[in-house]
Amino acid sequence: MGRKTEITNLLANLPRLGAGLAYREPFRDELLQKQSEVDFVEIIGDHYLDAPPERMDELVLLGEHFTLIPHFTNLSLGSAEEIDPVYVEKITSLIKRLSPPWWSEHIGYTRAGGMTLGHPAPLPFTKESVDVMTRNIVTVRRAIATPLILENICSPLLWPGAELAEPAFISEVLTSGGCGLLLDVTNLLTHATNLGGSPEDFLAELPLDRVVQVHFSGGHETNGRLVESHAQPVSEAVWKLLDAVVARAPVRCICLERDDNFPPLPEVLWQVERARAIGRQHRRWN
Ligand SMILES: [Fe+2]
Repeated sequence: MGRKTEITNLLANLPRLGAGLAYREPFRDELLQKQSEVDFVEIIGDHYLDAPPERMDELVLLGEHFTLIPHFTNLSLGSAEEIDPVYVEKITSLIKRLSPPWWSEHIGYTRAGGMTLGHPAPLPFTKESVDVMTRNIVTVRRAIATPLILENICSPLLWPGAELAEPAFISEVLTSGGCGLLLDVTNLLTHATNLGGSPEDFLAELPLDRVVQVHFSGGHETNGRLVESHAQPVSEAVWKLLDAVVARAPVRCICLERDDNFPPLPEVLWQVERARAIGRQHRRWN
């Protein structure tokens, strides 16, 4: 069986979760009352590594009400230096504890030369970067059998000397690492637009058959540039791109990210409901 067929088969068996929300603390109490309106919850896995007991109680409580998908931010799969074995050990034990259908990280790096950047930075789109990502993914997948999906990031700058176009780079990483795609449509729209390209052209070059999960969020515009601030209602441009992705990709779930300027939960949940309806319309779930 070819590598690509193997990955497609693996992804075909993943459950269809529907539309959900990235968990943030301000939503906590209202979220538990609105359980029927949220099909799953994504958590930032890093928040529950070395966490105090009350934080772990929160995780238990969430797990009693929702399917939890852990999203990690600091594994730094793109680091040329070895990935942190202690961090790997910690996320392995959290993933075992949650037993999720899949887990996610980013295509990029957050650690370099002993520094932590705080957000994922882009790699040069070269064969060497593909090899670095692959080596690290293989190391992690040896410890964690749960399927890994990787998110496209948004960056204002790119490295010179690219040997591959960015969508081809993403595709190579997913194939050689045996991973699914967490396609963040807001990142895609912001990134492609700010670099002077077309989000639709970028999308057309991505391996959409690998999409497992979709992220979407609202941003804003400042000085003619888009900012994916996760702090505003979702724009019509994002809804349009989301619809285009769900029409073409075997999406298993759609997750709204809201990170700031928190409104009352109902203002967030109508966006989750609209995403659910898009999934239904394209027969991704009932
Ligand atoms: Fe995202």
